[in-house]
Amino acid sequence: MNKELLVESARQIKGNAYVPYSHFPVGAALLLKDGEVINGVNVENVSLGATNCAERTAIFTAVAKGYKKGDFQAVAVSGDTEDFLPPCSICRQVLAEFCSPDMLVYLTNRNKEIKELTLKELLPYAFTDLDM
Ligand code: THU
Repeated sequence: MNKELLVESARQIKGNAYVPYSHFPVGAALLLKDGEVINGVNVENVSLGATNCAERTAIFTAVAKGYKKGDFQAVAVSGDTEDFLPPCSICRQVLAEFCSPDMLVYLTNRNKEIKELTLKELLPYAFTDLDM
């Protein structure tokens, strides 16, 4: 699957976001190395800290389906923003747990432009190891 299709998948799924508080829908599309695409949306809560971002929803869904570290090829994130919408820091940390530093991350904006980064560029000096 090419990056345009993955970004389009993230854009489409955004419509399922549950965002009664922020009115800021986000969609994510995770491409697995076996070609599967798993989507996620942000799911908010009246207790705002209980909100789950789109990227984490996608990763957690993939893990629940049985995917493991090393199975992830790319992720696309879509929001209705002027600038490219980057994953929040908690989502970056969750991505770093399961995805390799050279995994591709596609950011997009409301103009359908695409910015391509590696996870390492998005999260340099990631904390990934408890061996001190
Ligand atoms: N949000 C995401 O889903 N992904 C991000 O990486 C940025 C933030 C959501 C969380 C919340 O529902 C809304 O956007 C506003 O912060």
